[in-house]
Amino acid sequence: MTLQFSLAAAAPETVETSCVLVGVYEQGVLSSAAARVDSAGAGLIKRQVESGDISGKAGSTTVLFAPSGVTAKRVLVVGLGSQKSFDAARYQKVTIEAARALGRLPVTDGVSFLTEIDVPGRDIAWRTRVAALASDFAAYRYTATFKPRDKSAQPELATLRFAGNADAQAGLDQAMAIAAGVRFARDMANLPPNICNPAYIADQAIAFADGQAQVTCNVLDHVEMEKRGFGSLLAVARGSVNKPKLITLQYNGGAEGDKPYAFVGKGVTFDSGGISLKPGPGMEEMKFDMGGAAGVLGAFVAAVQMQLKVNLVCVVPAVENMPDGDSYRPSDVLTSLSGLTIEVLNTDAEGRLILCDALTYTVQTFHPHTIIDAATLTGACVIALGKHATGLMSKHDDLAAELIAAGEETLDRAWRLPLWDDYQAQLDSGFADIANIGGKTAGAITAACFLARFTDGQRWAHLDIAGTAWDEGRKGLATGRPVSLLAQWLIDRAG
Ligand code: BES
Ligand code: MN
Ligand code: ZN
Repeated sequence: MTLQFSLAAAAPETVETSCVLVGVYEQGVLSSAAARVDSAGAGLIKRQVESGDISGKAGSTTVLFAPSGVTAKRVLVVGLGSQKSFDAARYQKVTIEAARALGRLPVTDGVSFLTEIDVPGRDIAWRTRVAALASDFAAYRYTATFKPRDKSAQPELATLRFAGNADAQAGLDQAMAIAAGVRFARDMANLPPNICNPAYIADQAIAFADGQAQVTCNVLDHVEMEKRGFGSLLAVARGSVNKPKLITLQYNGGAEGDKPYAFVGKGVTFDSGGISLKPGPGMEEMKFDMGGAAGVLGAFVAAVQMQLKVNLVCVVPAVENMPDGDSYRPSDVLTSLSGLTIEVLNTDAEGRLILCDALTYTVQTFHPHTIIDAATLTGACVIALGKHATGLMSKHDDLAAELIAAGEETLDRAWRLPLWDDYQAQLDSGFADIANIGGKTAGAITAACFLARFTDGQRWAHLDIAGTAWDEGRKGLATGRPVSLLAQWLIDRAG
């Protein structure tokens, strides 16, 4: 069941709900909603601040049950941290923590007044959108591969209302569409690779297109790709019994004849490394190696739900990278769809080998206005930027600026690394036009340099989401990044 959102025009002390959410800063500074609840409840909150039970620490939560003088059954007091340093990122953090705390209560509904909190430079539509997205994110549960549980055991949060006027509605509408895209991406990426294989991703794309006017889906199988010369993509796929698919979704929401925007997403449903086999520990995380595919498909879902006035294509090369007697090997020379030959020096650098053919196909088939690819491409990107920023590489300063701005707006942030031709020499090969690895240094950049060879003359940017697509750890889930960033970029383009 998905969480339903709406707006509430009511006062915090008199709104009828199982739980009302209000914020308190450090040092006993109450938000205006908290102050109203406090005075209606004869010092209900201040007393707990004075006793030290409510600290106001960012993300902390306290539940006041059956408060007198207040209509709501409960008050959830959410710590906002220091008022002086309160900013957009803090706002997102506290709205996530608030939703988590609400989710732990035995309630099915709540009303949040956190949207009234002042966030420097952000309006009510932004605050509502971020709060709704954060709540949907926190409410997400992965259930697909557990034994079905008894649903009646504990009541589940079903509806959440936000304090807000008509201006907030636009933010809420966008949030619901983007949340649907984020959920689509997370659901797909969280699935194990014995379920989510290339055919599964193709089926999901077909099923989505089936229910939508203006959307069409096309899937090329390995026979078709052989005929057309996808030599690089097919080499990666050869070691697996799960045959590759090249999946295209097209949405015609813009003017006829307008060049489409194109998203290309790496869809390696499991990356064992192939013959250049990865070490055992952590290999299970490589089920998330289709995070780019999930991300671009999620952004596509969001764009369609918003009915954005844009033409959009989404291309997903979906393969599995496995060791086998028929696997491609280090030192093989491949002929890519573009005609450029590639010397394979490491079969674990497979993402770029499927993306190069997908990029060539995208350019030749759709003549796009702009291409953005998203890929869990390099461990080096995680070393460089950690788990917080997506790596952004582009030769187009204007496009890079657009993507950084979309990331700031949604807090799904990207940080730019250089893509200078100085790095290209690292890809030199004695046996082919280009090698598939660039040596020890600048691994995220040389991977992008490889892709740059196949996007010559195109307005193109690359997003390396290796660090941002999922949360680490045994229970780490897919994050749905960069769905918000890409959806925002499209919103900005649609005007
Ligand atoms: N899917 C991996 C990149 C990756 C590694 C993402 C760890 C997230 C966490 C990619 O296919 C890969 O194996 N890249 C190699 C490239 C190397 C062989 C040049 C890497 O990063 O080690
Ligand atoms: Mn790999
Ligand atoms: Zn990979």
